Amino acid sequence: MADKQAKLELGGQTYEFPVLEGSTGPDVVDIRKLYGSTGAFTFDPGYKSTASCESALTYIDGQEGVLLHRGYPIGQLAEHSSFMETAYLLLNGELPSQQEYEDFNYTITRHTMLHDQLNTFYQGFRRDAHPMAIMCGVVGALSAFYHDSTDISDPEHRKISSHRLIAKMPTIAAMAYKYSVGQPFMQPKNDLSYTGNFLRMTFGVPAEEYEVIPAVEKAMDRIFILHADHEQNASTSTVRLAGSSGANPFACIAAGIACLWGPAHGGANEAALNMLREIGTPDRIPHYIERAKDKNDPFRLMGFGHRVYKNYDPRATVMQSTVREVFDALNVKDPVFETALQLEEIALSDPYFKEKKLFPNVDFYSGIILSAIGFPTTMFTALFALARTVGWVAQWNEMISDPAQVIGRPRQLYTGPVERDYVPLSER
Ligand code: SDX
Repeated sequence: MADKQAKLELGGQTYEFPVLEGSTGPDVVDIRKLYGSTGAFTFDPGYKSTASCESALTYIDGQEGVLLHRGYPIGQLAEHSSFMETAYLLLNGELPSQQEYEDFNYTITRHTMLHDQLNTFYQGFRRDAHPMAIMCGVVGALSAFYHDSTDISDPEHRKISSHRLIAKMPTIAAMAYKYSVGQPFMQPKNDLSYTGNFLRMTFGVPAEEYEVIPAVEKAMDRIFILHADHEQNASTSTVRLAGSSGANPFACIAAGIACLWGPAHGGANEAALNMLREIGTPDRIPHYIERAKDKNDPFRLMGFGHRVYKNYDPRATVMQSTVREVFDALNVKDPVFETALQLEEIALSDPYFKEKKLFPNVDFYSGIILSAIGFPTTMFTALFALARTVGWVAQWNEMISDPAQVIGRPRQLYTGPVERDYVPLSER
C-alpha cells in the first residue's frame, strides 16, 4: 500500500489513488483503477503528464539538464566510457568487468555480418532512396532471416536477437550509404572496434586499405554514446508499444526507426544542418529568429527545444566541444559552426526563447560533426538510429521482462457523431 494518496473529486464522489515514488524524480499517481472506479479516462494527448511505464534504464531531469544511464551521468560516460561499454551497461544494469566487456565485444563483433541474401534486398531500392527508408525496410526484413531468435518468451532468443540488432545496425547503415553512392559493400573486419568497423564499412573501398583515424573513431563513438538512450521518447515508446503486442524484436525496432525519422524527433539533425546551411552567414540569423517566433510561420529552429529539457541538453554541451576536436583532427573548417554558435548566442538572449526555455538539443551540433567526418545529411538520422538501437533493445528487454507488462491500448475522448440510422442513397 502506498503511503501517499491522491484524491480526486468527480461526480460528487471522492476517489483516492496511490502515489508511487521512484528512486528519484517526480512521483506518479497510479491511475490504473481510475476508469474501473470512476468510468472516466484521463486525457493527455502527447503524454506530456503521463508515465507510460516503470524503468531503471535512463533518468532525465529536464529542469537541471541531467541525463543518467543506470545512474551514470552522460558527461562521464562520454568522457570515460565507450559505446560498447555503455551498451553493456544499458542492457545489464552495471558496468562490465574486463572479462565481461571482452566477452560482450566478442559476441557483438561476430554478429556484424548480414545474411548474404540481404545484399539482394538492397537492389530493390532506388539508388536515391533515403537511408532511413532502407533502414526501415532492411531491419524489418531481418525477421524473415532470423526465425531462430523471434520467440520473445525465450530469454535466449531475446538475448541473441538483441545482440544481432546491435551488431548488424552499423553494417546495414554502411550498406545503405554504399548503395546510395554506387560503391561496393564492405564486409566487417573482426579486428576493428565496433565504431572503427563502421567507419571502414562506410568510407573504405576494396581497392585499398582503410586507415581508421583514432580521433574520428573516438568522436564517432562518443556521438553514439550520446544517442544511445533517452527515456520514453517517441521512438522508444513506439518500440515498447509494438513490443507489447508480442511482435518480434526486428519488427519492433523497424517501427522505432520509422518513428525516429520524423523531423520533430530524430530527423532534426538532418533538418538542423540544412537550416544552418540555408541561413548561411551570421548576418541572416535575425531574419530566421523572427521567423521562428512568428506563429503564422511554420518555421522552427531545428535542433532547438525539447519536450523534457527546459535547460541546456547535456548532450549538446558534449557535442559542441566535439566539433572542435573533429575540426582539429581533420584540419577542416566549416563556417556553419560559427553561424551555429552565433545563432545559439542570439537565440538564448532572446525573450521568446528564454521564456519558452528553448535550448539547443542533441541535434543542433551533431550534423556539423557528421558532415566534417564525411557523411551526407541524409545519413544523419540513420546514424541516430544505429546508436539508439542499443536503447530501444534495452527498453524492449526491460518491458518484455516486466511481469506487469500488458498490451498497450490507450482510449480516447470521442467527439464524433452519436448513433444514427443509415440513409439509403436514394434519400440523400
Ligand atoms: C529529439 O523526446 C526525446 O527525448 C527526443 C530526443 C531523444 O534523444 O530521443 O531528445 C531527440 O527528438 C530532440 C528534439 C529534436 N527536434 C527538434 O529539434 C525540432 C525542433 N523542436 C521542436 O519541434 C520542439 O521543440 C519539440 C518537438 C522538440 C518539442 O516540442 P513540445 O515539447 O511539444 O513543445 P511545443 O512544440 O509545445 O513548444 C512549446 C512552445 C511552442 O510555442 P507556443 O505554442 O507555446 O506559443 O515553444 C515553441 C512552440 O511553438 N517552440 C519553438 C521551437 N520548439 C518549440 N519555437 C521555435 N523553434 C523551436 N525549435
